[in-house]
Amino acid sequence: MKIQQRKITVVGAGFVGMTTAAKCAERNLAAEVVLTDIVEGRPQGIALDLNQSAAVEGWTTHVTGTNDPADTRDSDLFIVTAGKPRKPGMSRSDLLEVNGKVIASVAETIRDGSPEAIVIVVTNPLDTMVHLMRAKLGFPGRRVVGMAGVLDSARFSLFLAEATGTSVKDVDAMVLGAHGDSMVPMPRACTVNGVAALDLIDGATMDALADRTRHGGAEIVKLLKTGSAYYAPAAGSVAMAASILNDERRVLPCACFLNGQYGFEGIYMGVPAVLGAGGVEDIVELSLDTEARIQMQKTAGAVQGDLESLRDLGLL
Ligand code: APR
Repeated sequence: MKIQQRKITVVGAGFVGMTTAAKCAERNLAAEVVLTDIVEGRPQGIALDLNQSAAVEGWTTHVTGTNDPADTRDSDLFIVTAGKPRKPGMSRSDLLEVNGKVIASVAETIRDGSPEAIVIVVTNPLDTMVHLMRAKLGFPGRRVVGMAGVLDSARFSLFLAEATGTSVKDVDAMVLGAHGDSMVPMPRACTVNGVAALDLIDGATMDALADRTRHGGAEIVKLLKTGSAYYAPAAGSVAMAASILNDERRVLPCACFLNGQYGFEGIYMGVPAVLGAGGVEDIVELSLDTEARIQMQKTAGAVQGDLESLRDLGLL
């Protein structure tokens, strides 16, 4: 699909949504980026500000700010950031009820106006919200994907770069599993330009970095006091959007609907995926050692627990 014909809708014009819309526009990922929110004036104001910045920076995307779901019609791609962020002391699961209702209403807009779209969900608790989104949409799993692994891996990469004294550009890190405390950082899969990271730092240091990654979101929530991270979540979702819209087929860790891969059936889980024009084109299965397999079972249990809570609330 030509860029002149592409339309991206970013749902939610809060911190993550506005940053995502800006990155999509600055990268000329689409002819039009629609930014939508329930708060009157906010998406319109951000759109006007962004379009004025285009005059300085020279990009050609038009940003439309709106409260009208009809303006999202025929979008090729949605990035859903609508919903509440965490406050200090909260877990992502504390957002289940409030954000579950938001996702259900956003799904209606997408299903009615853009039945062929690909959907990237960013709203937390991520694994449960992306599951709910797919269930409400009735889309094939390959067209509904969650952004978490890119973010968690980026956090791990930064910590590894700092610990090894190397450029973050050369560090590749991998985090699987749910986007929560039970996530599964993969030390053996981490490299610095092909060199195993475990050849550069000792096991205890690696464990400490993996642990900091697990609590990377909470560390930022604690510092900000109101709201949660937005630059790296926006960067993660835009990397996924670019791989899909440009058919780049990048291998990015994302929350994918599993059909037997890694031994799981019918749930979303963070795994490495090939992202291309059709959405999730393929899922890469890493060989896991016993410890990682146990951790994957644990993380799946945490997602199942949240799905149960969603069912108890009558939302799923
Ligand atoms: N449709 C559109 N927008 C909505 C809806 C809805 N049904 N419900 C809420 N919103 C909007 C709010 O009005 C607000 O502007 O979503 C926006 C959320 O913005 P912030 O409160 O700034 O939250 P943000 O930091 O952007 O995080 C959004 O992403 O990373 C996750 O955990 C985070 O779940 C949170 C989400």
